Amino acid sequence: MTTLTVVNGSPRKNGNTEILLDQVAKGYTDSGGRIRQIRLHDSGIEYCTGCFTCLRQRERPCKLNDPMDGIYDELLGSGAIVLGTPVYFWGPSAQMKTFLDRLFPFGDYQTTTWAQAFRGVPFGLVLVYGDEDPITSGAEAAYRQIKLVIECIGGTIARLIHCSANDLGEIRENEQALQAAEDAGAFLYGYQRHSINGKQG
Ligand SMILES: Cc1cc2nc3c(=O)[nH]c(=O)nc-3n(C[C@H](O)[C@H](O)[C@H](O)COP(=O)(O)O)c2cc1C
Repeated sequence: MTTLTVVNGSPRKNGNTEILLDQVAKGYTDSGGRIRQIRLHDSGIEYCTGCFTCLRQRERPCKLNDPMDGIYDELLGSGAIVLGTPVYFWGPSAQMKTFLDRLFPFGDYQTTTWAQAFRGVPFGLVLVYGDEDPITSGAEAAYRQIKLVIECIGGTIARLIHCSANDLGEIRENEQALQAAEDAGAFLYGYQRHSINGKQG
């Protein structure tokens, strides 16, 4: 059975990002897949220290001995990955940025076997913002930043869900967004199945 790893960059429990990610997960599991969930705020992952050890070939992607080591295995074993973050000051949350920095071992500038290890993996991206406008809110800036990272490690953004909501759980009133997120989960499952069958990508 194929796995979708759901990475939540919001610190708020029952927040808008979590609600939309749950919908993506529902679409994926209803299609026949299984999910793994990572709540970055509680994960205990450390900041990248900038040691550049990952520029040399190593058995593990990163020399830090922290929970990210297990997360690497989960991500590398996934058929699809969905990242979700609220927009915080015109960019991703600090939790999500910390996570993205820890993907440095997989960049296309690397000469190790970890370079572009996510080649062909479909990513979903969920962005929530308080402002109503996707440009002035900073959602577009966050999208561009995260897209560059995903493409640098070999992945592709197969589905983007972005919508405005500010209060805790407010997104529940947005049926269109909930449905779009569920559809994205089903799409990620289908994308992956097609890829495995060699019909796509
Ligand atoms: C520190 C902080 C910074 C924020 N910065 C922005 C911003 O730059 N643009 C925006 O539209 N909303 C901003 N917001 C609003 C959040 O994106 C919004 O409340 C969102 O619904 C939070 O998602 P969550 O419920 O998943 O935590 C900010 C909120 C906080 C707490």
